[in-house]
Amino acid sequence: GYVFHPSHSIFSLPPVDKESLQNQIDELSTFSDTPAPSVTRILYTENDVLARRYIKGLMGQAGLSVHEDAVGNIFGRWNGSDPELGAVATGSHIDAIPYSGKYDGVVGVLGALEAINVLKRAGFQPKRSLEVILFTSEEPTRFGISCLGSRLLAGSEALVHVLKESVDDQNTSFFDAARSAGYAISQENLSNVMLKKGSYFAFLELHIEQGPLLEEEGVSIGIVTAIAAPASIKVEFEGNGGHAGAVLMPERNDAGLAAAELALAVEKHVLETGSVDTVGTVGIIVLHPGAINSIPSKSHVEIDTRDIDEKRRDAVIEKIHQSSIEVSRRRGVKLSEFRIVNQDPPAKSEHSIINAMEDVVQQLNLSHKLMISRAYHDSLFMARVSPMGMIFIPCYKGYSHKPEEYASIVDIANGVNVLALTLAKLSLD
Ligand code: GLV
Ligand code: MN
Ligand code: MN
Ligand code: MN
Repeated sequence: GYVFHPSHSIFSLPPVDKESLQNQIDELSTFSDTPAPSVTRILYTENDVLARRYIKGLMGQAGLSVHEDAVGNIFGRWNGSDPELGAVATGSHIDAIPYSGKYDGVVGVLGALEAINVLKRAGFQPKRSLEVILFTSEEPTRFGISCLGSRLLAGSEALVHVLKESVDDQNTSFFDAARSAGYAISQENLSNVMLKKGSYFAFLELHIEQGPLLEEEGVSIGIVTAIAAPASIKVEFEGNGGHAGAVLMPERNDAGLAAAELALAVEKHVLETGSVDTVGTVGIIVLHPGAINSIPSKSHVEIDTRDIDEKRRDAVIEKIHQSSIEVSRRRGVKLSEFRIVNQDPPAKSEHSIINAMEDVVQQLNLSHKLMISRAYHDSLFMARVSPMGMIFIPCYKGYSHKPEEYASIVDIANGVNVLALTLAKLSLD
């Protein structure tokens, strides 16, 4: 058998069951609203519920005790020999934006379960409890709120208020959607989701890089030092609309053109920072009524902007606001909404966790580099209530948020090994 003892400097772990792990990734990807190879799995839809059921089943098979909170964050716990101590947790998300891939988030949930299974096969006994968390709605697809589950766990009172008003694009309220997925949620028990500080001794997340560096440089493991600061904004313009043939150009106030100009202004403000670390994206423009022969009377624009430098990111947001006002005045359209949906600070990984990961990577003889996460993750919010660290693995050409997303099972298994040993180390701390 395999021996796992804290006093041994070389830990010996049984191998990751690559075949099972790949099969699980493939099976989970079938719970999708769009055909393979794309994956679309939206919060509280039938496929999300089926995928959650699948994960809960695997948690049970791994011998974890499972519980869910009011918004559907799912926790699978392996009790340590000293269960009063703060637990060491790891996890990620399984929701998938429209037409994305099967690895984003999933590697950090199924990989975490395999890390637990590896430790169990090793005969390891944790001192601090170990926990796998599936976070609800890391992606903002349905209600426009990113990292919904972890944001709430981290104690966002503002989110409690926002959720009470939130509806999706079919006008279904957040609460009705949650109930349809089987969550007995009420306005009162929302606050119960929040974690007490100290609940966790450490939080770890395994994730594909979603960028090209590890693959390009032939490095197996990225250890994240910080997560860039994300923000998102919703803007609406309103004009008079009218007949595309009959209303002459000087008479128009076209809400669609205001949206188009604003999209270009976002790009301009981002580029003007002169820093490659500043990014801005207009991923949604919706025109009303959306007919070829009707001048848009309303436009809806959603803007995502991020930076590792929070002040610089905030300055870009201010310029986007100024441009919204300027465009609306000049074009004679109404700026009926300018709403900053979220404007989050960056997060730093904990030094002691980075050090633990570096030790583990060396023990495993894997190459590694320290790096920044430009994507956001549930770790951004868990860092508010727990020391945090993230493990990145390479992905094909850095592709993510599209069907071509791919990570090899060898790279995934490396990540699982690093996760398993770091969990073990920290659980004995
Ligand atoms: C979440 O997936 C992000 O956009 O970083
Ligand atoms: Mn994502
Ligand atoms: Mn993700
Ligand atoms: Mn993400």
